[in-house]
Amino acid sequence: MSHSPFLGRTIQVVKDLSLDEQAYLYKKTRDLKQAILAGKDWQQFCINKKDRGVYLLFLEDSTRTKESFRNAAIFHSLKVNDFDARTSSFQKKENITDTVKMLMGYSSSSMFVIRSKQEGVCRWLDSSMSRYAQKAGLEKPSFINAGDGQHEHPTQEFLDEFSFLEYYNWDASHIHIALVGDLFHGRTVHSKVEGLKIFKNVEVDLIAPAEIAMPVHYVTLMKKSGYKVRIFDSIEEYIAQKHRADVWYFTRLQLERMGERLVKQAEQLRQAVSFSYDYLNKIDAKTRFFHPLPRHSETPTIPMFLDDTPFNAWDEQSRNGYFTRIVAIGMLGGSIGGDFEGESPRQILHEEPHIETVPVRTKSKPEYKIGIRPVEAGIVIDHIGVGSQPRQIWDHIAKIRHILDLHMVSSQGVFKSEHHDHYKGIVSIPGLHELNEDKIRMLAAIAPGSTLNTIVAHHVVKKFRLSIPDRVSKLPGLRCKNEACISNPEFFEPVVAEFIKTDQDTYRCIYCNTPHAYRDIWIN
Ligand code: NCD
Repeated sequence: MSHSPFLGRTIQVVKDLSLDEQAYLYKKTRDLKQAILAGKDWQQFCINKKDRGVYLLFLEDSTRTKESFRNAAIFHSLKVNDFDARTSSFQKKENITDTVKMLMGYSSSSMFVIRSKQEGVCRWLDSSMSRYAQKAGLEKPSFINAGDGQHEHPTQEFLDEFSFLEYYNWDASHIHIALVGDLFHGRTVHSKVEGLKIFKNVEVDLIAPAEIAMPVHYVTLMKKSGYKVRIFDSIEEYIAQKHRADVWYFTRLQLERMGERLVKQAEQLRQAVSFSYDYLNKIDAKTRFFHPLPRHSETPTIPMFLDDTPFNAWDEQSRNGYFTRIVAIGMLGGSIGGDFEGESPRQILHEEPHIETVPVRTKSKPEYKIGIRPVEAGIVIDHIGVGSQPRQIWDHIAKIRHILDLHMVSSQGVFKSEHHDHYKGIVSIPGLHELNEDKIRMLAAIAPGSTLNTIVAHHVVKKFRLSIPDRVSKLPGLRCKNEACISNPEFFEPVVAEFIKTDQDTYRCIYCNTPHAYRDIWIN
């Protein structure tokens, strides 16, 4: 059992399983579903460990996700605990970090299935509780994200992709899918950005009015993955053209996440993304409708008259939730995975900023000035914001001063470079002989490309060139801009924001994945 490569892992986002691992999950689910439906022996899939606890922590409403997880855990003969948030210490303002730490003590090993408004909660618990488990001599717990705010819903994604593969008869060469509904607030459609990669060629049609359209950064990621993306305002507009998807994935309007202004427009928005009788003779007979459910009973985006037609694929999709979750629990619990061959996700290493020492050349003239006087001794931050417009460089300078708390007598300016046709900023601080390591790392993150010069007797004696670090962590003043992020201090969890540089030269919050420009990762 213990040689499963999945044992003790956490699934916060779809990407926490590599593509090979996702394909493995679908293959195992297919085997399991066949075995169960044919009444064959399925004991080989079971964990059968009564002292392994599965905690269902649902801090937002749920029917299908919670019940399918509960039944999947029972299938494995595990100890299932349903945590009732309404009668718990959450009402006394206890935080989730303390709660989970306490619950871990009741089993030799634990798995937590968590649904919460706080985005990135499983990633946080995975790192903090691993440290705690080590200290307390417990097995590392697993955390499964059962929907975090409007961020992701990875296990829904696995059951959705499994259902699409079933529909395409296991041919993963191509999918043409229409995502219809509230693409802005719906986490199930956000998880599609990664999940659809299981198909080789992906065509995605996004159907939603601008108010509830797919966030731009997700559209960018889809295009970067090579998906062909088209955007439509309504089903009416979509139906009017001929190249239509065979898989239609509907979502409901996420009213609970909309502000008052949007809720007022709900009726009009809903109409744009609801199927109607008039469209029926315009769609191809092989079209199938999927939906993560629930449907709104009065105004469903897939009307009830479609329930008993061949277009209904959502009932089978919903049933697949049970099978895929049995396999997901089996993988993280160690009963499934011994025969896995393939790649696992790349570990993100803790990278330090690159601080390169630059050789200094002796010059006869004093090198830097403070106002009109040469700097005799102190530090000078040079080459700030090279290549940016003066306005942005002033903004960088203000950030450097504010975040590094450099408010002493000093001077600054934005200049045209002597040798090149571009602008740069300079801050000169006489009397300050060095910046501590934290401040150098912060400077590298705020003003990558800048140089830090130490001046003694009018001359530069030491020079460092700072480049953008791959990871920014453990520094004061970091702040994720997503208010729903678990690192938001208003949640009173002991989490400090951390960021990882992505290939687009932006930083992503390690918890909620929200992209930030490098200058925006600090408290304003
Ligand atoms: C979805 C969810 O919670 O995000 N439902 C589900 O898990 N079955 C979609 C929704 O609530 O609309």
